Amino acid sequence: MDVADAVRRLEEATRAGLESLTAASTLEELEEAERSVLGRKGPVSEVQRSLGDLEEEDRRRLGRAVNEAFQAVRDAAADRGSVLREDAERLVGERDRIDVSLPGRRPPLGGLHPLTQTERTILDAFAGLGYRLVEGPEIETDWYNFEALNIPEDHPARTEQDTLYPEVPGRKDLLLRTQTSNVQVRTMEAQEPPIYVVTVGRCYRRDVPDATHSPVFHQVEILAVDEGLSLADMKGTLEAFARAVFGPDQEVRLRPGYFPFVEPGAEVDVICFLCGGQGCRVCDEGWIEILGAGMVHPSVFEAAGIDAERYTGFAAGLGIERITMLRHGVPDIRLFFDGDIRTLSQFARSA
Ligand code: PHE
Repeated sequence: MDVADAVRRLEEATRAGLESLTAASTLEELEEAERSVLGRKGPVSEVQRSLGDLEEEDRRRLGRAVNEAFQAVRDAAADRGSVLREDAERLVGERDRIDVSLPGRRPPLGGLHPLTQTERTILDAFAGLGYRLVEGPEIETDWYNFEALNIPEDHPARTEQDTLYPEVPGRKDLLLRTQTSNVQVRTMEAQEPPIYVVTVGRCYRRDVPDATHSPVFHQVEILAVDEGLSLADMKGTLEAFARAVFGPDQEVRLRPGYFPFVEPGAEVDVICFLCGGQGCRVCDEGWIEILGAGMVHPSVFEAAGIDAERYTGFAAGLGIERITMLRHGVPDIRLFFDGDIRTLSQFARSA
């Protein structure tokens, strides 16, 4: 092969190659263009293969031209390659771009369960009166739930509070507490008066569920023990509580009521917060019962080791479900325990 011819071929191939490199619009096209010039079957390799037949001087000259052709095409391919890669990246960036300037879609927020809302309102009211929050066990002994509260074995109150018994081998005295009053006794055992405590928690009774009964329900209970406490203190306390929870114009009415662990005992009414005292379908001529209360029975003091000559006290208890049903006009207690989001979302409030 004529060297001058070969050099010209190389120059021609290089020029055409550079053109097709520039024209390549994708990395694949670029690779293809580079291969067609520099590949094993391409013109440059062909010239390179012919070097062996040449004289020393021609070989050097043509060899240099081959190297230059390789170099020029590779450099150009690299340059074009980085341009194409940048383009490709920018394209991906544009395609995957997220518009964060729009307001996001907010996931639905959870809210407090209506029973929890009532519970907190009630606890806040008593905390505001200086009552300390205490808790007691849900699995309790017969002593704390009944005996020490002046409810002996054959007492009719036991049938009213039909009890659930867990199966614990060797412990026939255990039961699921039927009321939060167990905490009265435990608190008095644990500390000297003055005592001002509020407690809250789950209670259990062997009731068949219906619109107003649930085997699990919640009570809040307070206990005050001090020197010289009277029924007037109890009424004043319950009035302050009622005003905090149901409004500043509230009043409290005491009616005689029976609970074995208090004497005297009272059913406590407030002015109906649904009709404002006018009288409605739900209340009793403008009054509505919300609490049980009374002066702590001397037998309870005795069982708990408190000097009944020196101290007097009062206790009051209420059902959170009942108050919540009244407040919100909920017709069926079971709605609180179904966990149905259609019910619960109606009580959602940010808290
Ligand atoms: N624990 C009582 C009940 O369940 C309510 C109560 C508490 C009554 C404290 C009086 C005093 O019936």
